[in-house]
Amino acid sequence: KFQANAHSIAEYRELARRALPRMIFDFYDGGADGENTLAGNRAALDAKRLLGSAPIDVGRRSQEVKLFGKSYAMPLIIGPTGLAAAAWPDGDIALARAAGRAGIPFVMSTAGTCTQDDVASAGDGSKWMQLYIFKDRAFSARIVDKAETLGFEAIEVTVDNAVAGKRLRDERNGFSLPFRWTPAKLAGLLVHPGWSMRMARAGAPQLKVMGEGLGLEKTDTIAALMQSQFDASISWDDIARLRDRWKKPLIVKGLLDPSHVSKALSVGVDGLVISNHGGRQLDGAVASIDVLPDFVAAAGGRLTLLIDSGFRTGSDIARALALGADAVQVGRATLYALAVGGEETVFHALGLLKAELDVAQALMGVARIEDFHPGMIRQPAPVPL
Ligand code: FNR
Repeated sequence: KFQANAHSIAEYRELARRALPRMIFDFYDGGADGENTLAGNRAALDAKRLLGSAPIDVGRRSQEVKLFGKSYAMPLIIGPTGLAAAAWPDGDIALARAAGRAGIPFVMSTAGTCTQDDVASAGDGSKWMQLYIFKDRAFSARIVDKAETLGFEAIEVTVDNAVAGKRLRDERNGFSLPFRWTPAKLAGLLVHPGWSMRMARAGAPQLKVMGEGLGLEKTDTIAALMQSQFDASISWDDIARLRDRWKKPLIVKGLLDPSHVSKALSVGVDGLVISNHGGRQLDGAVASIDVLPDFVAAAGGRLTLLIDSGFRTGSDIARALALGADAVQVGRATLYALAVGGEETVFHALGLLKAELDVAQALMGVARIEDFHPGMIRQPAPVPL
């Protein structure tokens, strides 16, 4: 029987740090430049204090939510993360299967390491497709059409990647695709025998979606790869064209500026992911939790509002729900778990988050997810120095 060695996402992060070669852990864990936004995401969540409300009858509690007309077991989504197979062989499939077992959606990344067909047939959960708009628009359109054919239920189009954030850990580690192994890095593998054996058996991770259409062959840094393929000229016109092509729910990922809500409504998108890309893009960007209330006010119930960046615990999720988010996406939380034991540990980590959310609900007097409200949050003034 599966034995869990971690009791929180923080502990999964520690186990992942031990399991992965430095270069891989840093790629997952790191942020852009001084990692101020990465740290700020945590600080902003911590600053939101929760009102515990007892006694309210919370004898029966539920985490169930409806998103785009469909019921899910909890207001959590596994968000899109590229290069999952560097954590565990067929990582995208493992994530999709774990999400399906937990009754929540999985968003496949365009920088995925399995094919869209592989993910579509992995388990029986809801799959959504994340999209990058490439210079080669025809290739992006093919990903959309394929998502349609394969039964993906929503598209999340990412808009905060006009260029790649400058990730100093990756630069220092010489992180590139395919991996370039120096003698020092090879020596480092000796202390990660489990990972090394799994990779030796499964083969080096490949960008199977992007690789097909873009002919990626030469070794490149992630930044160079993104620069060569991603289009800095994307605009709301591209989103409008995508809206014409894709009839199912369309979600725009990577907004921080609430003034864009009217644009989103006018091109007819269905939802947003308020996100600073987990602190990996614009360093100094606001924490997504801090702009959430403005999005809620601007959207006035006309958009499904998802949020990510920094969520690690059930009470983090409770904070976003109280401030008006419909659901939370996670990136690193499930990647850390993936690196430890594949599908089983991801499933276990999702159970931890659900149990933590349940405890937060019970102590906050929230029987059902709809009962969360902004009055449950206090943000104390900063203590003067
Ligand atoms: C990402 N993210 C991301 N987003 C996206 O739209 N397409 C992608 O391919 C990726 N790839 C990716 C790889 C890795 C290693 C990470 C950590 C993140 C961003 C991701 O969807 C999400 O916005 C953040 O991860 C959210 O922050 P947390 O949950 O990691 O703190």
